[in-house]
Amino acid sequence: MDIGMRHLHVAVVAMLLFLILYKTILLVANKHELLDKVRAKTKIFDMILGVLAVATGIYLITLKPEVEPYLWIKILLVLIAIPLGIVGLKKHKKPLAILSTVLIIYVFGIGETQSYKFKRDPVEIASGEHAGQEIYQKLCVECHGEDGKKGLFKAPDLTTTLLEKAEMKERILQGKGIMRAYKNELDNQQVESVIEYISKLQ
Ligand code: HEC
Repeated sequence: MDIGMRHLHVAVVAMLLFLILYKTILLVANKHELLDKVRAKTKIFDMILGVLAVATGIYLITLKPEVEPYLWIKILLVLIAIPLGIVGLKKHKKPLAILSTVLIIYVFGIGETQSYKFKRDPVEIASGEHAGQEIYQKLCVECHGEDGKKGLFKAPDLTTTLLEKAEMKERILQGKGIMRAYKNELDNQQVESVIEYISKLQ
């Protein structure tokens, strides 16, 4: 269910983005009549997509142990961009429609990179004895759980993983599928200390 919701959220948002982009292009190209026709035709579809995007978004937020700053920024910008877009396209105000489109593209980028700078900062954790555990608690518990078995978004059970340490390292640094790459956030030693901690869970 969690993974289906995530795919649905991304698909719905991508469709909304495409529709807004298309209508903004019509507005900028001064195709006013066509714009109004398209708006009338997609009205109900837009509303359904909008409700689905917000509902799946809220559901996904409830899965998070904490709402990180990038998510607050994303939520805030969505709340600004949607009314701007609606008013801009309805009243044929180019600057509003363009601003809304730019905001939504930016929000899409924030969602994909999970950072409002499109790049996450290195994790500041001292390389002490408990570094592995601290990093795991901070970055990994959300999907893998305290005991490594949570399995959110089909995350594999880390207590029964068959991966070698080198493969785990590769997976953590490069990411795969829904799990993002941690190469900007964690250095070599930090990754090794997390793997050390995972092996203690086993
Ligand atoms: C957003 C959810 C999420 C977060 C956060 C996350 N993972 Fe994952 N992890 C996954 C998913 C999903 C997979 C399966 C990827 C695939 O094979 O498609 C995975 C796979 C793995 C694997 C490979 C396991 C195997 O048997 O294939 C390791 C090791 C791993 N994660 C470690 C970590 C570590 C360490 C962290 C924190 C630094 C972390 N993960 C954070 C979701 C997550």
